[in-house]
Amino acid sequence: MATTSSQPKLRLRDVSKHFIAPRTGMRTLAVANVTLDIESGEFVCVVGPSGCGKSTVLNLIAGLDTPTGGTVEKDGQKITGPGADRGVMFQDYALMPWQSVADNVGFGLRHGTPGKPYTPAQREERIRQHIELVGLSGSEHKYPHQLSGGMRQRVALARLLANGPDVLLLDEPLGALDAQTRLILQVELLRIWGETQPREQRKTAVFITHDIEEAVFLADRVVVMSSHPGRVREILPIELPRPRDESIRGDARFGHYVEAIWNLIRDEARRAIAAA
Ligand SMILES: Nc1ncnc2c1ncn2[C@@H]1O[C@H](COP(=O)(O)OP(=O)(O)O)[C@@H](O)[C@H]1O
Ligand SMILES: [Mg+2]
Repeated sequence: MATTSSQPKLRLRDVSKHFIAPRTGMRTLAVANVTLDIESGEFVCVVGPSGCGKSTVLNLIAGLDTPTGGTVEKDGQKITGPGADRGVMFQDYALMPWQSVADNVGFGLRHGTPGKPYTPAQREERIRQHIELVGLSGSEHKYPHQLSGGMRQRVALARLLANGPDVLLLDEPLGALDAQTRLILQVELLRIWGETQPREQRKTAVFITHDIEEAVFLADRVVVMSSHPGRVREILPIELPRPRDESIRGDARFGHYVEAIWNLIRDEARRAIAAA
């Protein structure tokens, strides 16, 4: 979708990344020639067969890794490392088991979000707001082991949001959850991203998944990658109305999008299974 601002939120230009195995010196080209602009407020899903470089791309945007070639920019500035402006979430909850829900959510605040010093009272308020946002009010003093998988991912999401990022980088965040919890959290995630808000108030989200239906349900655009090396195969705009709820899955267009994406990755997915 076109926006009035000339500058994309994220800009990847001819990005490549290779890894060199420390002992053998063997080189793996994980991604090659990835060029992609992501607009502010856009929800982009990335799908593709296992090993096609999805996590590599996300880690480059997160600044957890540096590209071997090309450039990765946010707001026109080269990304040089991790920052609180980009919140990252993975499939495993990465919560601190010895800390309560509230302490987990406040973790980044206690350790000082750069440029945003919070007084203790502000910090408490920010923790409360974000626990409420993810629907966990009343569970502040519980510990991760007392929570279901879905609740733990809500805590991880609250922690990420409490740091005030404008970009959400989500690497299969719902991948470990049961199917029902997953469907519920997809809807919640859209609400939290800002689906009911005007576009300027939405965060920018990059969401990796291997679940095609999940990608279509969530995304403004789906980036389909292919592997060896990882490349952008095709980018599909998903022109389904928002806000979306479960009923959208019955829309004929929904089925067409899922089929189109599956057609793009099916052969490669089959080959990967055969090779395994
Ligand atoms: N740290 C690393 N060292 C060496 N090879 C890696 C590393 N991270 C990823 N790779 C390789 O890069 C390719 C892409 O991996 P990844 O981005 O994790 O794929 P995906 O997330 O799509 O499953 C794979 O071949 C993987 O083995
Ligand atoms: Mg991955």
